[in-house]
Amino acid sequence: MAVERTLTILKPDCIRKNLTGEVIRRIQEAGFDIVAMKLTRLTKDTAGGFYAVHKGKPFYKELVEFMSSGPCVPMILEKGNAIADFRNLIGATNPAEADEGTIRADFADSIGENIIHGSDSVENGKIESAYFFSEADIVAVKS
Ligand code: CMP
Repeated sequence: MAVERTLTILKPDCIRKNLTGEVIRRIQEAGFDIVAMKLTRLTKDTAGGFYAVHKGKPFYKELVEFMSSGPCVPMILEKGNAIADFRNLIGATNPAEADEGTIRADFADSIGENIIHGSDSVENGKIESAYFFSEADIVAVKS
């Protein structure tokens, strides 16, 4: 299976609920290698730019407010089939529809405050990763 990278963000609700360690543990236990990671706080501009594809949607303003409401932890993850496998690990965007045992089903309160982000394609993963990290930030963990 092709090795892929996905960009994830542990969102401000994840950090506020003291779930950072537990969510990282689940990610590593599922076989993902963390190849870049940092703690940061997004400004409204940065959050708005990251989610620019949703600009104009009814939830956009709330999303930008929420994502800039506290620290978050962006990470680049690497694994065979990373995009699909990570989306299975985190569950559906709406936690009410997420499969049992997924991160969102277990920890998220609502579709807006859903603990964690995951890229929806390899191509978007690259664009999203470049939003937070340069090539020099990416660590070779396997060699
Ligand atoms: P995420 O995967 O980070 O990508 C866009 C985010 O918009 C999504 O998670 C949700 O947290 C948020 N969002 C808020 N309301 C909605 C909605 N009605 N439909 C889809 N996404 C929403």
